[in-house]
Amino acid sequence: MAFPESFLQELKMRNDITEIVSAYVGLKRRGRNMVGLCPFHGEKTPSFNVYTENGSFYCFGCGVGGDVITFIMKIENLDYVEAVKFLAQRAGMNVPENSYDDSMSKLRTRIFEANREAARFYYATLQTPQGAVGLEYLHRRALSDRTIRHFGLGFADNDWTSLCRHLYDKGFRDDEIVAANLGVRRRNGGGIYDRFTNRVMFPIIDLRGNVVAFGGRIMTDEKPKYLNTSDTPVFKKSTNLFSLNNAKNSGSRTLILCEGYMDVITLNQAGFTNAVATLGTALTSEQAMLMKRYADEIVICYDSDEAGQKATARAISILRNAGVLIRVLSVPSGKDPDEFIKSKGKDGPAAFKAIIEKSGNDVEYRLSKLRQLYNAETTDGKVAYLNEAARVVSTISSPIERDVYATKICNELGIDKGAFNQQMSRILHSSNREAAKKEIRQIQTDLSGRNDKINTEHYKKPRSSSAEEALVVYLINNSDCANEISEKVKPEQFQNLFIRRYYEYVLNRIENGLEPLTNLAADFTADEVSKLYELMSRSIPAASNTDAMREYIKVINEESTKLTADDVKSLSDEELKVYIDKIRKNKQ
Ligand code: CTP
Ligand code: MN
Repeated sequence: MAFPESFLQELKMRNDITEIVSAYVGLKRRGRNMVGLCPFHGEKTPSFNVYTENGSFYCFGCGVGGDVITFIMKIENLDYVEAVKFLAQRAGMNVPENSYDDSMSKLRTRIFEANREAARFYYATLQTPQGAVGLEYLHRRALSDRTIRHFGLGFADNDWTSLCRHLYDKGFRDDEIVAANLGVRRRNGGGIYDRFTNRVMFPIIDLRGNVVAFGGRIMTDEKPKYLNTSDTPVFKKSTNLFSLNNAKNSGSRTLILCEGYMDVITLNQAGFTNAVATLGTALTSEQAMLMKRYADEIVICYDSDEAGQKATARAISILRNAGVLIRVLSVPSGKDPDEFIKSKGKDGPAAFKAIIEKSGNDVEYRLSKLRQLYNAETTDGKVAYLNEAARVVSTISSPIERDVYATKICNELGIDKGAFNQQMSRILHSSNREAAKKEIRQIQTDLSGRNDKINTEHYKKPRSSSAEEALVVYLINNSDCANEISEKVKPEQFQNLFIRRYYEYVLNRIENGLEPLTNLAADFTADEVSKLYELMSRSIPAASNTDAMREYIKVINEESTKLTADDVKSLSDEELKVYIDKIRKNKQ
C-alpha cells in the first residue's frame, strides 16, 4: 500500500525543496543549484546541493541525498509516513486515510504513549510508600520538588510487574510494552516483566516533547549504576541528547555539554538551563550536528578524572569537525559539575559561573595539558613542549589567531618567535601534503567504488556497472525514451543486481505513466535513495545525449553476453561454440 500518486505529487509541489531546506540550512545560489553547509555532517566549505529543478538534494561531502520527503525524514528524525504527514500539515493538505501502510508509525505512536504513561506512573510512585526510598534519594542529592517535577523524575519500584500491569490496565499489549523496552519477555515464554526495578527514573524527552526513553539509577553502589532504554523504534542513543528539549529554549546560543544526567539536572536547578548530556556513550558526530543547530558555542564540561579528560580530547575533535566554537571547562579538585555546585552550597551558581567565564577555548586547553605533561625547566622538556605546542597552534586556521598564541608561548618560554614560526610552517607544509595525499587516496577509492557499501557490485564489474548506472540516470531524465530503452535492454541483462532494481523500478513507473521518483522513499532504504541521487548528481556525461544513451546500451549488451572464466569452464563443447559465435557477432 502506498500514498496515492497524485497526492504525493501535490505534496511535493506545495513543499518547495528550496524553501523547506532553507529553514534548516543557509543556502546560496551557485549556478543552477543552491548550495550550503551540510546539516548532516560537519564541513567548512559547502558541498550540500539543492537542485530546484528536480526537487532533490545531494551532499558531495557525506553522500546523503534524496527528495523533500527524505530530507524531512533525516532532519526531523521521522519515518516515511510521519515525514509525509509533517509536510502535508505544513501545506495544509489532508492525508488520505488508510491509503498507506503505517504499521510502523502506529507502533511508534503506541511506544510514545506507553512511555508517557510509564513516566506518569514512575512519577506518581515517588509519592507512594513504595516510592519513598526514591524520593528520599533524590532529596538527599539536593534536588528540589520543583526540579523533580520539571524533569519528571520518578521511581520504578521493586515489584517486577507493577508497570506492566499498569500498562495493561491502560490498554497496552505485551508486544508494545516489549517494543518500548519497558518490559522484557520471560525466558520460559510466560508473559513479561518490568525492565526497570528499584531505580530512580530519568525520562529522556525529544525535541517534540515525546518521552523517548529512560535512564534508571540504582540507589546503591551496585552495578550497573545506570540502566538505559536500549535502542527502540523511537530511540537511538547516539542521536539524542539528554535535556536538549530544555536547552533549546534557554535563550542562549551556548550549550554546556556534560557527562551525566545528574550534572545536567543540578545545573538546571542552579539556573544553567542550557546544559545537555550524552546518554552514557561517547559523543557522536550526529550529536555534534544536532547541537550545532541550537548553538554556536559549546562548553565541554566533563569530569576531571582520566576518563573524562580522554572523552574531552575526543569531543574536541568531533566538535571541531562540526565547526562550532569550543570552550573547555575544568572543574576544580576532581569533581563533576554536580558535586562541584553542591560543594559550594548557596554559592554554587556563582562559583560555576565564575569557572565558565575562566574557561579557555580548545587550543588553550590543549596547550595547558601539554604544559602539565612536559617539564619546561629542562632543555629536553622545553624542546618537546615547543614541538607539540607548534603542532597544536598550527591547527588553527586563522593566521592572526595563530600569531597570538605563538607570541604568548614564546614570551612565556623566552624563545625567539622566528624559530617557532619556522617550526609551525614546516608542520603546516607537511600536514597540507598529508591532507592532499589523503584526499587523493580517498578520491581514488571513491572512484573505484571499492568502499561503496550500498552499490557493492560496482567495484567487481566496473564497466557494465558504469553503463548501467548511466542508463538508469538517462532514463530518469528522459522518460520519453523509455520505449526505445526497454526494447533494447531487458532488466535481466543488468549485471549489477542492485542497479537492476532501480532500472526495473523506474521503467515500471514510467510505463505506468508515473513520475519516476515520486515515491522512492517508500520502496528503497534511505541509503539506497541517497545512492541514486548520488548517481544523478555526479552529472554522468551527456545527460540527454542520445549517442551517449546508445553507447550505454551497447556496453550493457556486450557485457551481458560475456561469461566469466568459471562459466566458460562449465560449458559443453556445443554451448561454447554458440557463445564464441555470439561474441564474434558483437565485435563486428
Ligand atoms: N552512564 C550510563 N551507564 C553506566 C554509567 C554511566 O549510562 N553504567 C552514563 C549516565 O548517563 C551517567 C553518565 O554516564 O549520567 C556519567 O556517568 P558517571 O560519571 O558515572 O555518573 P554521574 O552522572 O556522576 O552519576 P551520579 O552522580 O549519579 O553518580
Ligand atoms: Mn556525579
